[in-house]
Amino acid sequence: MNIKKIPFLVMASVLFSVAHAQDPPQLGSASVDEVVDAMTPEEKVRLLIGTGMAGFSGETAVVGATGQLVPGAAGTTYAIPRLGIPAVVLADGPAGLRITPVREGDDQTYYATAFPVGTTLAATWNTELVEQVGKAMGNEVLEYGVDVLLAPALNIHRNPLCGRNFEYYSEDPVVSGKMAAAMTNGVQSNGVGVSLKHFAANNQETNRMGNDSRVTPRALREIYLKGFEIAVRESAPWTIMSSYNKINGTYAPENHDLLTTILRDEWGYDGMVMTDWFGGKDAPAMVHAGNDLLMPGTPQQYEAILAAVKEGGICEADLNRNVKHILRLIVASPRFKGYAFSNRPDLQAHAAVTRQSAGEGMVLLKNDAAALPLPASVKQVAAYGISSYDFISGGTGSGDVNEAYTVSLVAGLRNAGYRLNSQLKEAYETYIAGENEKNKPDPNNPLAAFMPKVRPGEFVPASATLAQHAKESDVALITIGRTSGEFADRTLEGDFLLTDVEKKMIEAVSKAYKAEGKKTVVILNIGGVIETASWKHLPDAILVAWQSGQEGGNTVADLLSGKMNPSGKLPMTFPVHYMDAASSANFPWDPAVVKLAGGGFMGRPDDGRDPVANVDYTTYEEDIFVGYRYFDSFRKEVSYPFGYGLSYTTFEYDNPMIRETPDEVIVSIDVINSGTIPGKEAVQLYVTAPQNPSLPKPAKELKAFGKTSELKAGEKQTVTLKVAKSDLASYDNEQCAWVVDPGRYDMLVAASSRDVRQTLPLTLTEPIIRKTNKVLQLQAPITIVQP
Ligand code: BGC
Repeated sequence: MNIKKIPFLVMASVLFSVAHAQDPPQLGSASVDEVVDAMTPEEKVRLLIGTGMAGFSGETAVVGATGQLVPGAAGTTYAIPRLGIPAVVLADGPAGLRITPVREGDDQTYYATAFPVGTTLAATWNTELVEQVGKAMGNEVLEYGVDVLLAPALNIHRNPLCGRNFEYYSEDPVVSGKMAAAMTNGVQSNGVGVSLKHFAANNQETNRMGNDSRVTPRALREIYLKGFEIAVRESAPWTIMSSYNKINGTYAPENHDLLTTILRDEWGYDGMVMTDWFGGKDAPAMVHAGNDLLMPGTPQQYEAILAAVKEGGICEADLNRNVKHILRLIVASPRFKGYAFSNRPDLQAHAAVTRQSAGEGMVLLKNDAAALPLPASVKQVAAYGISSYDFISGGTGSGDVNEAYTVSLVAGLRNAGYRLNSQLKEAYETYIAGENEKNKPDPNNPLAAFMPKVRPGEFVPASATLAQHAKESDVALITIGRTSGEFADRTLEGDFLLTDVEKKMIEAVSKAYKAEGKKTVVILNIGGVIETASWKHLPDAILVAWQSGQEGGNTVADLLSGKMNPSGKLPMTFPVHYMDAASSANFPWDPAVVKLAGGGFMGRPDDGRDPVANVDYTTYEEDIFVGYRYFDSFRKEVSYPFGYGLSYTTFEYDNPMIRETPDEVIVSIDVINSGTIPGKEAVQLYVTAPQNPSLPKPAKELKAFGKTSELKAGEKQTVTLKVAKSDLASYDNEQCAWVVDPGRYDMLVAASSRDVRQTLPLTLTEPIIRKTNKVLQLQAPITIVQP
């Protein structure tokens, strides 16, 4: 080395550091790469960790302090003012924005709209409508100063009892993926982001933070990842949230196969990945796996990652990659751009969106002798069931929304001009007030606000009283309500199954009104599947109103009165018995098993006890045979099939056509309103693939769907549905490849999975094989059901 040059070099480096210290690059004017170059290792690690969950742990920040930018939001990223990096705000999702509605010392309110839950939206089968809902929801995100909505949630309804099914869309991955893409496109059209969650195979709440989902690569690829793949390909979600559970032995946030090999390398995702709140155990492993942001972040994670960075356990490339993903999101955010949010979104306009979209999602299961719409002769209505008076707008936990009001069914009926049986109304209101007084939530339980509140039990009015009501009133409505939310799965007794009192109420009311020649309508104010087979013969009509957002009562009245014609269809199967669902053999429905999970927020402690099935691990023995794929392939009777729903009118399907391009199959069908009133029809396209002994195929699989616009009586619309030939593939575990077998395919144009209207043959002469990586393998073989 030339000694003379040393002073110059020293001088240059001093000058450089001084310039740097005085004028560090600022995000925005400097590029993400320049900012990353200027960051210290400590700053990089800080950025990987969120700032904690204010109000939950009692601290406003776990690492660093950004304060409460938007009270009630779930968290923020870490701000580094030195480099012009602001904190951005993340808030739940998915039925609307979850923030605190009132702030201390502030007269203004910050209510958000409770939109219909995910299941209700899926039941619309209308992706354009869901995009409109997303647009309205995203506007509230933007106008309340939030940058990322922690939604949509698209886990598969693997089993009827999952406590969060209401947040999710469907038992079918195509419905889930298309709905999530529509929601993402709608929300993100406002310039804010979404977080697709929970990636992946998070299908039970029991011990959700310790449970290992043991599942074949085929079922993962075809069922549990497919919806995410569709959403990633058809929208550009800013973020994805890894789930709590393990998949084949590795926690999702620590799972490189999942977060890097599949998500980024195979699907080309280039957004950000964050953990679910407190998800994962090994922070450095998460960094390596490609989980960019750890939420809400803990000091221990910060220390562990920093130590690994310093000791070489985390390579610089991984660290920088994750930091860049976060910085790119920040640059895109409204907060970074200095958006002047109003804190005054148009809640009235959004109430109209929620009312309309909920109406399209409600499903008419039964309508004997055209009991509905209510004839003009119906003036006075008798409303039975607690939920007629205390309507459930959505589920609980992080999927809850702090809305300004919920329209009860009775309020909705009154708004629609009906009179209510006032004696009955008074009896219910007095009873509910008394029961609620007894069941007040424990103010010392910090989780109480997250958990379903105890609802009063039902009662059966005395037979003389019922007879009297039946004389006075023109129709009986009975609402059956259910609520659930994160942390716990639903129970069989008293939740999936009706209670004895509920059954007796339906029996007694139907009988009393029948005796007067009057009709009984049951309204199901539910977030997921319940048993219907044993009692559905009793009422004249059954309407699934779901948990349909804050305008619920108005929407039900719109449908009952005929102002709207039902056009929703079930996004999941209603089985006859709970145990009929193939997944029920491996789900924590048994209270004795659930008890072993230890309850509690963090799930079962890792205390070295022998692993318990369905608590510590869950074996997906049903494999790809989830929902109708099982019921139809194994020819099981169901109470109501997937895709089913009645209308006040009827539709004919005519003139089926099929054509092919090199890559696509295009099916079209004329849908004709053959009844007397306007209505919409959801058309489903299923495929039956040629059987392959080494790769058993389900009897049918949904590949596409579409919905007509409102057709007047006699009006016709051609619905065109496209399927990529490569999407006819099944995943072959042996070859680690998607394989489309040559042979004869049947394209089934259907009104439900059990109502095929037209069959169009398609012959493929050449196989299509798409190799994938050999990842997410089972650690030990599992037994799977065979058709
Ligand atoms: C839930 C997530 C939610 C997060 C933040 C977790 O308990 O599983 O869905 O986004 O909390 O509230």
